[in-house]
Amino acid sequence: MEFVPSPLEFDVSPDFGFLPEREPLQCLPEYFSPWETFARNLPQLVKEGESFRQQIKQLPLLDHNKLSTEDEWKRAQLVLTCISHAYVWCKGETGVAKSLPKSLAVPWVSVAEHLGIPPVITHSTFQLYNWRYIDSKRPFSMDNLEISVMITGSKTEVGFVSIPLQLEADFGKGCYSIPNGQKAVVNNDREGVLKALISLKETIVQLKKSFLRIYDVCDPEEFYNGLRIYLSGWLNNPALPDGLIYEGVNEMPLQYSGGSAAESSIFHTLDAALGVLHSKTESSSGGQFLEKMRYYMPPKHRAFIEAVANGPSIRNYVLASGDPDLNRAYDLCVEKLTDFRNVHLQVVARYIIIPSNREKESKQKGKALIGTGGSDLMSFLKQIRNETASTASCNNNIERDSSIELHKESIRVSDDTIMVSDDNTAS
Ligand code: HEM
Repeated sequence: MEFVPSPLEFDVSPDFGFLPEREPLQCLPEYFSPWETFARNLPQLVKEGESFRQQIKQLPLLDHNKLSTEDEWKRAQLVLTCISHAYVWCKGETGVAKSLPKSLAVPWVSVAEHLGIPPVITHSTFQLYNWRYIDSKRPFSMDNLEISVMITGSKTEVGFVSIPLQLEADFGKGCYSIPNGQKAVVNNDREGVLKALISLKETIVQLKKSFLRIYDVCDPEEFYNGLRIYLSGWLNNPALPDGLIYEGVNEMPLQYSGGSAAESSIFHTLDAALGVLHSKTESSSGGQFLEKMRYYMPPKHRAFIEAVANGPSIRNYVLASGDPDLNRAYDLCVEKLTDFRNVHLQVVARYIIIPSNREKESKQKGKALIGTGGSDLMSFLKQIRNETASTASCNNNIERDSSIELHKESIRVSDDTIMVSDDNTAS
């Protein structure tokens, strides 16, 4: 029998999904205060450029083995990541640092290794471990969060970290519909599969709704000219063509992709659950890029995605059933995921393409634009969007407005909505 992943075994919470259930640690023990002091003052320090770099060169090499709890290792990863990216990029692309001092490089590489992620800015470090409640008695929401460590200190940076956190929380609320749907496949429980698809579709709709708040909280110019560079890595980056030397670790430069929400486990899991496949051929290599992004995720989350992908196929069950309501519910999930990816393309146009076109002396002009994760961004994003759209079951015989029974609930499946009510008055 096919294995249905149990999310808790993969650090996936029933309420928070991939987010930590508890507020991340806000400060390391006293011994690590030199790191904490730099981390607290980064928005001011990055403006100082060379003087900041000189101060970092005075930083003592601290013993990372004095870190004890997992929360401490994660906090250390956040603090070292932000200081290191500030160090490398504070003088822009032309003044980029080609090597990272030993006092940052040695502990950073070890801490990242302990957590199973590379020593570079990642979605898990800069987003999942980088928040605190404004009011811990109120529920988790982007409006009730502060960002723990900031590099530029801008409102745009707050928004840029908060939006993905909100999406993680939205996904967390609905993510159990995935294993529930897979269990229903194993049990040939048609209504269970339908219920799971309906819940999944609601989750994807909510993801888009929260994502659209980006326009309210991130300013395109502040993103493009301020924050973006600090998210950059040193793989496929013309500013650091050979990579970055981690002093005291490796004499040769090492290459890693920068931070990107392509490393969020949400969309990999949705693709896996819905059977959306991405091509990995040379001419159409978006699937390869996404696969590489998995190595920037916490190992258990990466394993969860693989377990979902290898689990019972909801898509095959739906296609084999020939059931119009199942097909329609499945297609709506795919449609909403395509919709999200379309909106994301518009955001990328607004926050990267338009500001880059405005740059008068842009070095980028005429060349393909590269994302912070290192992708040839537009062709990559379009490929991923198109592959999502083409996954729909496209059962043309589906009645557009059919109602069906599910236990005591009535479910109405229509063009854009699936509504459930328990008094048989769905509309
Ligand atoms: C200012 C906001 C954003 C910009 C400019 C942006 C830009 C990009 C770029 C350039 C890529 C291509 C990969 C790379 O090289 O990095 C990408 C991929 C991706 N981004 Fe964003 N992004 C933004 C916000 C978000 C948010 C908030 C999410 C959701 C949490 C998100 C989800 C994704 C996903 C899932 C991918 C991988 C492609 C896919 O699966 O569709 N992005 N993004």
